[in-house]
Amino acid sequence: MAGAQLWPAPATQRKILTMTRTLLRGRILTFHREPSGSDDTDAYSYIEDGALLIEDGLIRASGGFDDIGPNAHDAELVDHRPHLLMAGFIDAHIHFPQIQTVASWGSQLLDWLNTYTFPAEAAYVDSQHAHAMARHFCTLLTDHGTTTAVAFCSSHKGSAEALFSEAADRDMRLIAGKTMMDRNAPAAILDTPQSGYDDSKALIAGWHGKGRLSYAITPRFAITSTPEQMEMAQTLAREHPECYIQTHLSENPDEIAFTSELYPNARDYIDVYETYGLLGPRTLLGHAIHLKTREIDALAETGAHPVFCPTSNLFLGSGLFDDAGLRARGVRNAIATDIGAGTSFSMLQTLNEGYKVLQLQDQTLHTLRAFHWITRGNAEVLGLEDRIGTLDAGTEADIVVLDSRSTPALALRVDAAESLAEELFALQMMGDDRAVAQTYVSGRPQKSGGQ
Ligand code: GUN
Ligand code: ZN
Repeated sequence: MAGAQLWPAPATQRKILTMTRTLLRGRILTFHREPSGSDDTDAYSYIEDGALLIEDGLIRASGGFDDIGPNAHDAELVDHRPHLLMAGFIDAHIHFPQIQTVASWGSQLLDWLNTYTFPAEAAYVDSQHAHAMARHFCTLLTDHGTTTAVAFCSSHKGSAEALFSEAADRDMRLIAGKTMMDRNAPAAILDTPQSGYDDSKALIAGWHGKGRLSYAITPRFAITSTPEQMEMAQTLAREHPECYIQTHLSENPDEIAFTSELYPNARDYIDVYETYGLLGPRTLLGHAIHLKTREIDALAETGAHPVFCPTSNLFLGSGLFDDAGLRARGVRNAIATDIGAGTSFSMLQTLNEGYKVLQLQDQTLHTLRAFHWITRGNAEVLGLEDRIGTLDAGTEADIVVLDSRSTPALALRVDAAESLAEELFALQMMGDDRAVAQTYVSGRPQKSGGQ
Protein backbone atom coordinates (compact mmCIF):
# COMPACT_ATOMS: atom_id res chain seq x y z
CA MET A 1 0.00 0.00 0.00
CA ALA A 2 1.44 3.40 -0.99
CA GLY A 3 2.62 5.50 1.93
CA ALA A 4 1.84 2.73 4.43
CA GLN A 5 1.69 4.07 7.96
CA LEU A 6 3.80 2.73 10.72
CA TRP A 7 2.10 0.28 13.03
CA PRO A 8 0.08 0.87 15.14
CA ALA A 9 -2.45 3.16 13.53
CA PRO A 10 -3.71 6.06 15.66
CA ALA A 11 -6.37 4.93 18.12
CA THR A 12 -9.09 7.13 16.60
CA GLN A 13 -8.57 5.65 13.18
CA ARG A 14 -8.58 2.11 14.55
CA LYS A 15 -11.88 2.73 16.25
CA ILE A 16 -13.63 3.82 13.06
CA LEU A 17 -12.51 0.79 11.10
CA THR A 18 -12.48 -1.97 13.71
CA MET A 19 -15.67 -3.56 12.48
CA THR A 20 -14.21 -4.63 9.19
CA ARG A 21 -10.55 -5.63 9.47
CA THR A 22 -8.78 -7.56 12.21
CA LEU A 23 -5.12 -8.47 12.40
CA LEU A 24 -4.26 -11.51 14.51
CA ARG A 25 -0.68 -11.80 15.64
CA GLY A 26 0.89 -15.00 16.95
CA ARG A 27 2.78 -18.08 15.94
CA ILE A 28 1.26 -19.56 12.79
CA LEU A 29 1.11 -23.20 11.67
CA THR A 30 -0.64 -24.28 8.48
CA PHE A 31 -0.34 -27.35 6.25
CA HIS A 32 0.15 -27.57 2.48
CA ARG A 33 -0.11 -31.37 2.37
CA GLU A 34 0.18 -34.33 4.71
CA PRO A 35 3.65 -34.35 6.33
CA SER A 36 5.57 -37.61 6.37
CA GLY A 37 7.30 -36.58 9.63
CA SER A 38 8.65 -33.58 11.51
CA ASP A 39 11.54 -33.18 9.08
CA ASP A 40 9.12 -32.89 6.14
CA THR A 41 9.18 -29.10 6.44
CA ASP A 42 7.89 -28.48 2.91
CA ALA A 43 4.54 -29.88 4.00
CA TYR A 44 3.78 -26.98 6.32
CA SER A 45 4.56 -23.36 7.11
CA TYR A 46 5.48 -22.33 10.61
CA ILE A 47 6.04 -18.64 11.29
CA GLU A 48 7.30 -17.62 14.71
CA ASP A 49 5.95 -14.06 14.46
CA GLY A 50 3.04 -14.43 12.10
CA ALA A 51 -0.08 -12.47 11.23
CA LEU A 52 -3.48 -13.10 9.69
CA LEU A 53 -5.46 -10.22 8.23
CA ILE A 54 -9.18 -10.94 8.45
CA GLU A 55 -11.94 -9.14 6.63
CA ASP A 56 -15.56 -10.07 5.95
CA GLY A 57 -15.11 -13.55 7.37
CA LEU A 58 -12.12 -14.39 5.16
CA ILE A 59 -8.36 -14.51 5.65
CA ARG A 60 -7.14 -11.77 3.32
CA ALA A 61 -3.43 -12.11 4.05
CA SER A 62 -1.35 -14.67 5.88
CA GLY A 63 2.37 -14.46 6.61
CA GLY A 64 5.00 -12.76 8.71
CA PHE A 65 3.90 -9.90 10.96
CA ASP A 66 6.64 -7.70 9.53
CA ASP A 67 5.22 -8.16 6.03
CA ILE A 68 1.52 -7.87 6.78
CA GLY A 69 1.40 -5.49 9.75
CA PRO A 70 2.60 -2.37 7.96
CA ASN A 71 -0.06 -2.80 5.27
CA ALA A 72 -2.84 -3.32 7.75
CA HIS A 73 -2.62 -0.12 9.74
CA ASP A 74 -6.39 0.29 9.69
CA ALA A 75 -7.03 -3.14 11.22
CA GLU A 76 -7.71 -3.87 14.86
CA LEU A 77 -4.75 -5.76 16.27
CA VAL A 78 -5.36 -8.79 18.47
CA ASP A 79 -2.04 -9.94 19.84
CA HIS A 80 -2.20 -13.66 20.64
CA ARG A 81 1.53 -14.12 21.23
CA PRO A 82 2.91 -16.51 22.42
CA HIS A 83 -0.03 -18.69 21.36
CA LEU A 84 -0.23 -20.81 18.25
CA LEU A 85 -2.73 -20.03 15.48
CA MET A 86 -3.98 -22.94 13.38
CA ALA A 87 -6.95 -23.62 11.14
CA GLY A 88 -10.07 -24.46 13.16
CA PHE A 89 -10.53 -28.17 13.80
CA ILE A 90 -12.92 -30.28 11.72
CA ASP A 91 -14.98 -33.05 13.34
CA ALA A 92 -16.09 -35.46 10.62
CA HIS A 93 -18.67 -37.47 12.63
CA ILE A 94 -20.69 -36.31 15.63
CA HIS A 95 -24.24 -36.81 16.89
CA PHE A 96 -26.00 -33.57 17.82
CA PRO A 97 -28.79 -35.22 19.90
CA GLN A 98 -26.27 -37.16 21.98
CA ILE A 99 -24.70 -34.32 23.92
CA GLN A 100 -26.37 -35.61 27.08
CA THR A 101 -25.59 -39.25 26.26
CA VAL A 102 -21.83 -38.92 26.68
CA ALA A 103 -20.50 -41.13 29.50
CA SER A 104 -23.48 -43.49 29.72
CA TRP A 105 -22.22 -46.56 31.50
CA GLY A 106 -21.65 -50.11 30.71
CA SER A 107 -22.52 -51.70 27.39
CA GLN A 108 -21.54 -52.22 23.79
CA LEU A 109 -23.09 -50.66 20.71
CA LEU A 110 -26.57 -52.18 20.33
CA ASP A 111 -27.40 -52.13 24.05
CA TRP A 112 -25.98 -48.66 24.37
CA LEU A 113 -28.18 -47.42 21.51
CA ASN A 114 -31.32 -49.01 22.96
CA THR A 115 -30.70 -48.09 26.58
CA TYR A 116 -29.40 -44.54 26.35
CA THR A 117 -29.23 -43.13 22.87
CA PHE A 118 -32.63 -43.76 21.38
CA PRO A 119 -34.49 -42.41 24.45
CA ALA A 120 -32.29 -39.28 24.45
CA GLU A 121 -32.94 -38.71 20.75
CA ALA A 122 -36.70 -39.06 21.28
CA ALA A 123 -36.64 -35.80 23.25
CA TYR A 124 -35.69 -33.90 20.08
CA VAL A 125 -39.27 -34.12 18.84
CA ASP A 126 -39.67 -31.00 21.01
CA SER A 127 -38.30 -28.15 18.95
CA GLN A 128 -37.71 -25.94 21.98
CA HIS A 129 -35.44 -28.64 23.42
CA ALA A 130 -33.73 -29.03 20.05
CA HIS A 131 -33.08 -25.29 19.78
CA ALA A 132 -31.71 -25.08 23.32
CA MET A 133 -29.43 -28.07 22.71
CA ALA A 134 -28.30 -26.67 19.35
CA ARG A 135 -26.98 -23.61 21.19
CA HIS A 136 -25.08 -25.81 23.64
CA PHE A 137 -23.81 -28.00 20.83
CA CYS A 138 -22.34 -25.16 18.76
CA THR A 139 -20.82 -23.54 21.85
CA LEU A 140 -19.25 -26.82 22.94
CA LEU A 141 -17.76 -27.27 19.48
CA THR A 142 -16.14 -23.85 19.38
CA ASP A 143 -15.06 -24.03 23.02
CA HIS A 144 -13.03 -27.06 21.97
CA GLY A 145 -11.62 -25.39 18.86
CA THR A 146 -13.89 -27.14 16.36
CA THR A 147 -15.21 -24.84 13.66
CA THR A 148 -16.74 -27.36 11.24
CA ALA A 149 -18.75 -30.44 12.16
CA VAL A 150 -20.40 -33.20 10.17
CA ALA A 151 -23.40 -34.01 12.31
CA PHE A 152 -26.19 -36.55 12.62
CA CYS A 153 -29.39 -34.92 13.88
CA SER A 154 -32.28 -36.94 15.31
CA SER A 155 -34.90 -38.37 12.96
CA HIS A 156 -37.11 -35.35 13.61
CA LYS A 157 -36.99 -32.74 10.88
CA GLY A 158 -37.16 -30.04 13.57
CA SER A 159 -33.88 -31.14 15.10
CA ALA A 160 -32.08 -30.48 11.82
CA GLU A 161 -33.93 -27.17 11.45
CA ALA A 162 -32.74 -26.20 14.93
CA LEU A 163 -29.12 -27.09 14.26
CA PHE A 164 -28.95 -25.48 10.82
CA SER A 165 -30.53 -22.27 12.09
CA GLU A 166 -28.14 -22.07 15.06
CA ALA A 167 -25.13 -22.59 12.77
CA ALA A 168 -26.49 -20.03 10.30
CA ASP A 169 -26.83 -17.46 13.10
CA ARG A 170 -23.15 -17.99 13.90
CA ASP A 171 -22.07 -18.15 10.23
CA MET A 172 -20.57 -21.49 11.13
CA ARG A 173 -19.72 -24.15 8.54
CA LEU A 174 -21.86 -27.23 9.16
CA ILE A 175 -22.69 -30.41 7.29
CA ALA A 176 -25.69 -32.17 8.81
CA GLY A 177 -28.72 -34.27 8.11
CA LYS A 178 -31.88 -35.62 9.62
CA THR A 179 -31.33 -39.28 10.48
CA MET A 180 -33.42 -41.68 8.39
CA MET A 181 -34.54 -44.71 10.42
CA ASP A 182 -37.74 -46.71 9.95
CA ARG A 183 -37.24 -49.88 12.04
CA ASN A 184 -35.57 -51.46 15.08
CA ALA A 185 -35.95 -48.42 17.33
CA PRO A 186 -38.75 -46.94 19.48
CA ALA A 187 -41.72 -45.49 17.56
CA ALA A 188 -40.91 -42.00 18.86
CA ILE A 189 -37.83 -41.84 16.66
CA LEU A 190 -39.01 -43.76 13.61
CA ASP A 191 -39.88 -42.19 10.29
CA THR A 192 -41.18 -44.01 7.22
CA PRO A 193 -39.56 -44.39 3.82
CA GLN A 194 -41.84 -41.65 2.51
CA SER A 195 -41.59 -39.22 5.44
CA GLY A 196 -37.82 -39.76 5.62
CA TYR A 197 -37.60 -38.85 1.95
CA ASP A 198 -39.97 -35.89 2.18
CA ASP A 199 -38.32 -34.40 5.27
CA SER A 200 -34.81 -34.83 3.84
CA LYS A 201 -35.95 -33.27 0.57
CA ALA A 202 -37.45 -30.26 2.37
CA LEU A 203 -34.31 -29.81 4.48
CA ILE A 204 -32.09 -29.93 1.38
CA ALA A 205 -34.27 -27.29 -0.28
CA GLY A 206 -34.24 -25.13 2.83
CA TRP A 207 -30.64 -25.36 3.92
CA HIS A 208 -28.19 -26.95 1.49
CA GLY A 209 -25.89 -24.31 0.04
CA LYS A 210 -27.33 -21.59 2.22
CA GLY A 211 -24.35 -19.64 3.51
CA ARG A 212 -21.90 -22.15 4.93
CA LEU A 213 -24.36 -25.02 5.34
CA SER A 214 -24.42 -28.35 3.50
CA TYR A 215 -26.77 -31.28 3.72
CA ALA A 216 -25.79 -34.90 4.37
CA ILE A 217 -28.27 -37.61 3.41
CA THR A 218 -28.25 -39.67 6.61
CA PRO A 219 -29.56 -43.24 6.72
CA ARG A 220 -28.47 -44.13 10.28
CA PHE A 221 -27.21 -47.64 9.48
CA ALA A 222 -28.43 -50.81 7.80
CA ILE A 223 -30.10 -52.11 10.97
CA THR A 224 -32.48 -49.17 11.28
CA SER A 225 -33.40 -48.79 7.59
CA THR A 226 -35.60 -51.16 5.62
CA PRO A 227 -34.70 -51.89 2.01
CA GLU A 228 -37.55 -49.52 1.07
CA GLN A 229 -35.90 -46.72 3.02
CA MET A 230 -32.51 -47.50 1.48
CA GLU A 231 -34.19 -47.10 -1.92
CA MET A 232 -35.44 -43.68 -0.86
CA ALA A 233 -31.93 -42.74 0.28
CA GLN A 234 -30.68 -43.85 -3.12
CA THR A 235 -33.27 -41.64 -4.83
CA LEU A 236 -32.20 -38.68 -2.70
CA ALA A 237 -28.55 -39.33 -3.53
CA ARG A 238 -29.34 -39.48 -7.26
CA GLU A 239 -31.43 -36.33 -7.12
CA HIS A 240 -28.87 -34.47 -5.02
CA PRO A 241 -25.32 -35.45 -5.97
CA GLU A 242 -24.22 -32.15 -4.43
CA CYS A 243 -25.09 -33.47 -0.95
CA TYR A 244 -22.92 -35.60 1.28
CA ILE A 245 -23.97 -39.06 2.52
CA GLN A 246 -23.21 -40.27 6.05
CA THR A 247 -23.89 -43.53 7.83
CA HIS A 248 -22.18 -46.20 9.98
CA LEU A 249 -20.27 -49.32 8.92
CA SER A 250 -18.89 -52.42 10.69
CA GLU A 251 -18.46 -50.99 14.17
CA ASN A 252 -19.31 -54.04 16.26
CA PRO A 253 -19.55 -57.83 15.71
CA ASP A 254 -23.20 -58.10 16.90
CA GLU A 255 -24.14 -55.22 14.63
CA ILE A 256 -22.50 -56.95 11.67
CA ALA A 257 -24.28 -60.26 12.43
CA PHE A 258 -27.68 -58.55 12.75
CA THR A 259 -27.08 -56.67 9.50
CA SER A 260 -26.42 -59.89 7.63
CA GLU A 261 -29.68 -61.34 9.02
CA LEU A 262 -31.58 -58.27 7.84
CA TYR A 263 -29.90 -58.18 4.42
CA PRO A 264 -29.33 -61.90 3.68
CA ASN A 265 -28.50 -61.25 0.05
CA ALA A 266 -25.75 -58.74 0.76
CA ARG A 267 -22.23 -60.08 0.19
CA ASP A 268 -21.05 -58.25 3.30
CA TYR A 269 -21.97 -55.15 5.31
CA ILE A 270 -20.76 -52.51 2.87
CA ASP A 271 -22.63 -54.26 0.06
CA VAL A 272 -25.87 -52.98 1.60
CA TYR A 273 -24.75 -49.41 0.92
CA GLU A 274 -23.15 -50.35 -2.41
CA THR A 275 -26.36 -51.97 -3.62
CA TYR A 276 -28.25 -48.75 -3.02
CA GLY A 277 -25.66 -46.54 -4.71
CA LEU A 278 -24.62 -44.82 -1.50
CA LEU A 279 -20.83 -45.09 -1.86
CA GLY A 280 -18.74 -42.33 -3.41
CA PRO A 281 -16.19 -39.65 -2.58
CA ARG A 282 -18.85 -37.65 -0.68
CA THR A 283 -19.73 -40.61 1.56
CA LEU A 284 -18.55 -40.78 5.18
CA LEU A 285 -18.73 -44.13 6.96
CA GLY A 286 -18.38 -43.98 10.73
CA HIS A 287 -16.09 -46.60 12.33
CA ALA A 288 -15.34 -49.15 9.55
CA ILE A 289 -13.40 -51.36 11.96
CA HIS A 290 -14.16 -55.00 11.13
CA LEU A 291 -13.77 -55.01 7.36
CA LYS A 292 -13.28 -57.87 4.94
CA THR A 293 -10.85 -57.56 2.06
CA ARG A 294 -13.68 -57.14 -0.43
CA GLU A 295 -15.11 -54.30 1.63
CA ILE A 296 -11.79 -52.48 1.60
CA ASP A 297 -11.68 -52.95 -2.18
CA ALA A 298 -15.13 -51.36 -2.37
CA LEU A 299 -13.91 -48.39 -0.32
CA ALA A 300 -10.87 -47.97 -2.56
CA GLU A 301 -12.90 -48.27 -5.76
CA THR A 302 -15.67 -45.88 -4.78
CA GLY A 303 -13.55 -43.32 -2.89
CA ALA A 304 -15.85 -43.50 0.16
CA HIS A 305 -14.23 -42.43 3.43
CA PRO A 306 -14.02 -44.40 6.68
CA VAL A 307 -14.16 -42.18 9.76
CA PHE A 308 -11.91 -43.14 12.67
CA CYS A 309 -13.63 -42.44 16.00
CA PRO A 310 -11.06 -43.48 18.62
CA THR A 311 -12.66 -42.33 21.88
CA SER A 312 -15.93 -43.97 20.85
CA ASN A 313 -14.29 -47.21 19.71
CA LEU A 314 -12.51 -47.53 23.05
CA PHE A 315 -15.56 -46.50 25.10
CA LEU A 316 -17.89 -49.04 23.47
CA GLY A 317 -15.16 -51.66 23.19
CA SER A 318 -15.81 -51.76 19.46
CA GLY A 319 -12.30 -52.52 18.25
CA LEU A 320 -9.16 -51.04 16.75
CA PHE A 321 -9.35 -49.03 13.52
CA ASP A 322 -6.76 -50.22 11.00
CA ASP A 323 -5.58 -46.82 9.77
CA ALA A 324 -2.34 -48.06 8.19
CA GLY A 325 -4.02 -51.02 6.51
CA LEU A 326 -6.65 -48.82 4.88
CA ARG A 327 -4.12 -46.17 3.85
CA ALA A 328 -1.94 -48.83 2.27
CA ARG A 329 -4.91 -49.67 0.02
CA GLY A 330 -5.31 -46.03 -1.00
CA VAL A 331 -8.32 -45.35 1.22
CA ARG A 332 -8.60 -41.83 2.63
CA ASN A 333 -9.67 -41.79 6.29
CA ALA A 334 -11.27 -38.98 8.27
CA ILE A 335 -11.13 -38.64 12.06
CA ALA A 336 -13.87 -37.60 14.46
CA THR A 337 -15.20 -37.51 18.01
CA ASP A 338 -18.45 -39.47 17.52
CA ILE A 339 -20.04 -37.78 20.53
CA GLY A 340 -21.94 -39.30 22.39
CA ALA A 341 -20.31 -42.71 22.20
CA GLY A 342 -17.19 -40.60 21.92
CA THR A 343 -16.17 -39.23 25.28
CA SER A 344 -14.71 -35.84 24.41
CA PHE A 345 -15.62 -32.93 22.16
CA SER A 346 -11.92 -32.22 21.86
CA MET A 347 -10.16 -33.12 18.63
CA LEU A 348 -6.93 -32.95 20.66
CA GLN A 349 -8.23 -35.69 22.95
CA THR A 350 -9.44 -37.55 19.86
CA LEU A 351 -5.86 -37.50 18.57
CA ASN A 352 -4.60 -38.59 21.97
CA GLU A 353 -6.77 -41.71 21.96
CA GLY A 354 -6.16 -42.19 18.25
CA TYR A 355 -2.44 -42.31 18.90
CA LYS A 356 -2.98 -45.06 21.48
CA VAL A 357 -5.31 -47.10 19.29
CA LEU A 358 -2.64 -47.09 16.59
CA GLN A 359 0.10 -47.90 19.13
CA LEU A 360 -1.79 -51.06 20.07
CA GLN A 361 -1.43 -52.16 16.45
CA ASP A 362 2.21 -51.15 16.06
CA GLN A 363 1.17 -48.22 13.89
CA THR A 364 2.47 -44.69 14.26
CA LEU A 365 0.69 -41.37 14.24
CA HIS A 366 3.26 -38.64 13.92
CA THR A 367 2.11 -35.44 15.59
CA LEU A 368 2.46 -33.31 12.45
CA ARG A 369 0.32 -35.77 10.54
CA ALA A 370 -2.10 -35.73 13.47
CA PHE A 371 -2.57 -31.94 13.36
CA HIS A 372 -2.80 -32.07 9.57
CA TRP A 373 -5.52 -34.73 9.93
CA ILE A 374 -7.86 -32.64 12.10
CA THR A 375 -7.43 -29.60 9.85
CA ARG A 376 -6.50 -29.89 6.18
CA GLY A 377 -6.80 -33.71 6.13
CA ASN A 378 -10.46 -33.75 7.13
CA ALA A 379 -11.07 -30.74 4.85
CA GLU A 380 -9.67 -32.72 1.90
CA VAL A 381 -11.92 -35.66 2.71
CA LEU A 382 -14.85 -33.23 2.54
CA GLY A 383 -13.53 -31.64 -0.67
CA LEU A 384 -13.36 -28.31 1.14
CA GLU A 385 -9.61 -27.67 1.38
CA ASP A 386 -9.92 -24.52 -0.72
CA ARG A 387 -12.23 -23.05 1.95
CA ILE A 388 -11.32 -24.49 5.34
CA GLY A 389 -8.53 -26.44 7.02
CA THR A 390 -5.65 -24.04 6.28
CA LEU A 391 -4.65 -20.46 7.03
CA ASP A 392 -4.16 -19.65 3.35
CA ALA A 393 -5.21 -16.23 2.08
CA GLY A 394 -8.66 -16.40 0.49
CA THR A 395 -9.96 -19.15 2.82
CA GLU A 396 -12.62 -18.78 5.48
CA ALA A 397 -11.43 -17.27 8.75
CA ASP A 398 -12.02 -20.28 11.02
CA ILE A 399 -9.07 -20.22 13.37
CA VAL A 400 -8.10 -21.83 16.66
CA VAL A 401 -5.69 -20.19 19.08
CA LEU A 402 -3.83 -22.77 21.16
CA ASP A 403 -2.17 -22.08 24.50
CA SER A 404 0.35 -24.81 25.07
CA ARG A 405 0.88 -23.65 28.66
CA SER A 406 -2.79 -23.75 29.60
CA THR A 407 -2.40 -26.11 32.56
CA PRO A 408 0.48 -26.50 35.02
CA ALA A 409 1.29 -30.00 33.80
CA LEU A 410 1.25 -28.95 30.15
CA ALA A 411 3.36 -25.88 30.90
CA LEU A 412 6.00 -27.96 32.63
CA ARG A 413 6.08 -30.45 29.80
CA VAL A 414 6.32 -27.74 27.15
CA ASP A 415 9.12 -26.01 29.10
CA ALA A 416 11.17 -29.12 28.37
CA ALA A 417 10.19 -29.29 24.68
CA GLU A 418 12.97 -28.66 22.20
CA SER A 419 11.01 -28.50 18.97
CA LEU A 420 7.65 -27.53 17.52
CA ALA A 421 6.85 -31.23 17.07
CA GLU A 422 7.46 -31.89 20.76
CA GLU A 423 5.24 -28.99 21.78
CA LEU A 424 2.49 -30.18 19.44
CA PHE A 425 2.72 -33.72 20.75
CA ALA A 426 2.27 -32.45 24.31
CA LEU A 427 -0.81 -30.53 23.16
CA GLN A 428 -2.12 -33.63 21.39
CA MET A 429 -1.70 -35.87 24.44
CA MET A 430 -2.47 -33.44 27.27
CA GLY A 431 -4.56 -30.69 25.70
CA ASP A 432 -8.32 -30.16 25.74
CA ASP A 433 -10.66 -27.16 25.74
CA ARG A 434 -8.44 -25.43 28.30
CA ALA A 435 -5.74 -25.26 25.65
CA VAL A 436 -8.10 -23.42 23.31
CA ALA A 437 -7.52 -19.78 24.16
CA GLN A 438 -9.81 -18.52 21.42
CA THR A 439 -11.76 -19.79 18.42
CA TYR A 440 -12.70 -17.63 15.44
CA VAL A 441 -15.64 -18.58 13.25
CA SER A 442 -15.90 -16.52 10.07
CA GLY A 443 -13.45 -14.13 11.73
CA ARG A 444 -15.56 -13.67 14.87
CA PRO A 445 -14.22 -14.64 18.31
CA GLN A 446 -16.44 -17.23 20.01
CA LYS A 447 -14.97 -17.56 23.49
CA SER A 448 -15.89 -14.80 25.87
CA GLY A 449 -12.85 -13.72 27.82
CA GLY A 450 -10.73 -15.71 25.34
CA GLN A 451 -7.29 -14.42 24.67
N1 GUN B 1 -24.52 -46.87 14.81
C1 GUN B 1 -25.78 -46.44 14.56
N2 GUN B 1 -26.09 -45.38 15.28
C2 GUN B 1 -25.00 -45.10 16.02
C3 GUN B 1 -24.72 -44.09 16.99
O1 GUN B 1 -25.53 -43.23 17.30
N3 GUN B 1 -23.48 -44.14 17.56
C4 GUN B 1 -22.56 -45.07 17.22
N4 GUN B 1 -21.37 -45.05 17.82
N5 GUN B 1 -22.82 -46.04 16.33
C5 GUN B 1 -24.02 -46.05 15.73
ZN1 ZN C 1 -21.94 -42.26 14.91
